[in-house]
Amino acid sequence: AIEKTFLMVKPDGVERQVVGDIVDRFERRGFIMKGAKLMVIPKELAEKHYAEHAERPFFGELVDFITSGPVFAMVWEGENVIKLARTMMGATKPEESNPGTIRGDYATTVSHNIIHGSDSLASAEREIGLFFGEDLV
Ligand code: CMP
Repeated sequence: AIEKTFLMVKPDGVERQVVGDIVDRFERRGFIMKGAKLMVIPKELAEKHYAEHAERPFFGELVDFITSGPVFAMVWEGENVIKLARTMMGATKPEESNPGTIRGDYATTVSHNIIHGSDSLASAEREIGLFFGEDLV
């Protein structure tokens, strides 16, 4: 099915100037960019975005990191884009992210892992709504 997903280049990815490469990968695959913005995430939005991790020991670090500099937030559309984008990103754990994936090419740690992508249809709708408003969902 044609879906939309929320993808975000994290502060480490913006700092390392890989936004262009990441956009290029999704364009080459055939996905359509429906929205994008460079922004510093307010703390309240970061806490909402990561609400499912609120009880984890690393929650404070996670919020501090994601608000530490500009992120590049995006909405992408296409066939099965939620799952395919996750495959293109590579696994969260660095030892499991294969070369050729975004994380496998750029990341060595679980916390500074370059990109976020929605993990389900429900997450995609929630995250697009949070960052871009209900009109883009
Ligand atoms: P993301 O997919 O953006 O959503 C949750 C994030 O938590 C995940 O990426 C990781 O970057 C981060 N994360 C997961 N496990 C840890 C951990 N043990 N320490 C710090 N951050 C983590």
